[in-house]
Amino acid sequence: MRLKRLVVVSNRVTPLSGRKAASAGGLAVGLLSALRESGGIWFGWSGELHRHASHEPKLFRSGRITYALIDLTEEEFEGYYAGLANRTLWPLFHYRLDLAVYDHEWYAVYRRVNQRFAEALFPLLREGDLVWVHDYHLIPIASELRRLGAKVRLGFFLHIPFPAPEVYLTLPWHRQLVVDLCAYDLVGFQTATDLRQFRAYIELELGGRTDNKGRVRVLGRRLRAIAVPIGIEPEDVAQMAVSGDARRQAQRVAATLSGRHLVIGVDRLDYTKGIPERLRAFELLLRDYPAHRQRVTFMQISAPSREDVPEYMELRQSVELLSGHINGVYSEADWIPLRYINRGFTRRALTGFFRLGRIGLVTPLRDGMNLVALEYVAAQDAEDPGVLLLSRFAGCAAYMDGALIVNPYDIHQVAETLHTGLTMSLEERVERWQRMMAAVREHDVRRWKQSFLDCLEQAGSRG
Ligand code: G6P
Repeated sequence: MRLKRLVVVSNRVTPLSGRKAASAGGLAVGLLSALRESGGIWFGWSGELHRHASHEPKLFRSGRITYALIDLTEEEFEGYYAGLANRTLWPLFHYRLDLAVYDHEWYAVYRRVNQRFAEALFPLLREGDLVWVHDYHLIPIASELRRLGAKVRLGFFLHIPFPAPEVYLTLPWHRQLVVDLCAYDLVGFQTATDLRQFRAYIELELGGRTDNKGRVRVLGRRLRAIAVPIGIEPEDVAQMAVSGDARRQAQRVAATLSGRHLVIGVDRLDYTKGIPERLRAFELLLRDYPAHRQRVTFMQISAPSREDVPEYMELRQSVELLSGHINGVYSEADWIPLRYINRGFTRRALTGFFRLGRIGLVTPLRDGMNLVALEYVAAQDAEDPGVLLLSRFAGCAAYMDGALIVNPYDIHQVAETLHTGLTMSLEERVERWQRMMAAVREHDVRRWKQSFLDCLEQAGSRG
């Protein structure tokens, strides 16, 4: 039994209920699972804007979790969240240099918000706490807490990819943010690839030393850097998928399919998810494999996300255009090939849809881990499972060898693989699913949390 108190810090703090769940993203899903079990404090943004910046977090308790929430001002929201987090770090870390905007004013606001968060958090900390900070919004928190004199163990986990140094170096503040990362005792990444990029930066750019045991020595500091993939609670998802509610939702959809196969895609409406490419691949399937016309329905659920950000508005328009085009060209009087739905559903309803889907289509252009892929697998019927079609650029592809792995940029390959999946024998589907399910169980959320926190407790004293 762990005696130390866990203090989780993240920008997004979501008590997951209702339709919002679909746009919450992997971080909130994973953290809620992790915290529910052990209890502790969850500190972060309230999701609200307030005219004045406050240093006092609002506290409330739900089950074993104490929430400590801070409002942002309008100016902070624009610079720190909509600006630096969503229009600089997000596109850059997902290799979208073409979309990354470098604005010094946003960066100044980003640092100020991190400082304010640290000042609000500091009085809540007590000796022996394990503080676990999450994601790109809050990289400087450790430096700020150290400056205030915090003596607790500080860990950081990056939920999104860490880019190759050649890409990362375009950020005007690349050095400062890595120096901030090095103020933690432990830094965790989703995959071995992300870890390798980080180590390369430390060695090439800062002249530091790293080894295969995760030890990092740089700029007179010692820390550890590890790769440990986040997971889900597979048994909970499996149970959800057979609950009365999920079944009812799935039956309503099934009743409209007239026995056709369902291809299902579920994502936040985000340009990293490869949705236009996915739609074009589906169009190619209909064009090049006419036998599937009238026999398959593709339901793409894209929950609205970051709607104030211009790149997301543009994406929405292009997806609307493309889906109108596909349906215009291929629909028949009694069949519409594509159902594009721009709203969220409850997680429970989604598990029902996953279980109904003969193909789970998860084709991000770049993704930290992608929990939808894992949930799709966990929701399947063991006797008659569906097929996961997975991008090689999703973090979980590293261990999901039972999936049909594709290059999401190659829409011809994706179309061909859709055909393979739709015509796969029951025997092969079962064999692949069993392998995937074993992997999803092995890499579950409990293991993620345990491995990280064990490592944080052991992380050597700071040099
Ligand atoms: C990704 C990020 C999370 C973020 C989520 C939803 O999963 O890694 O940090 O919370 O997207 O995005 P949002 O901007 O709505 O918090």
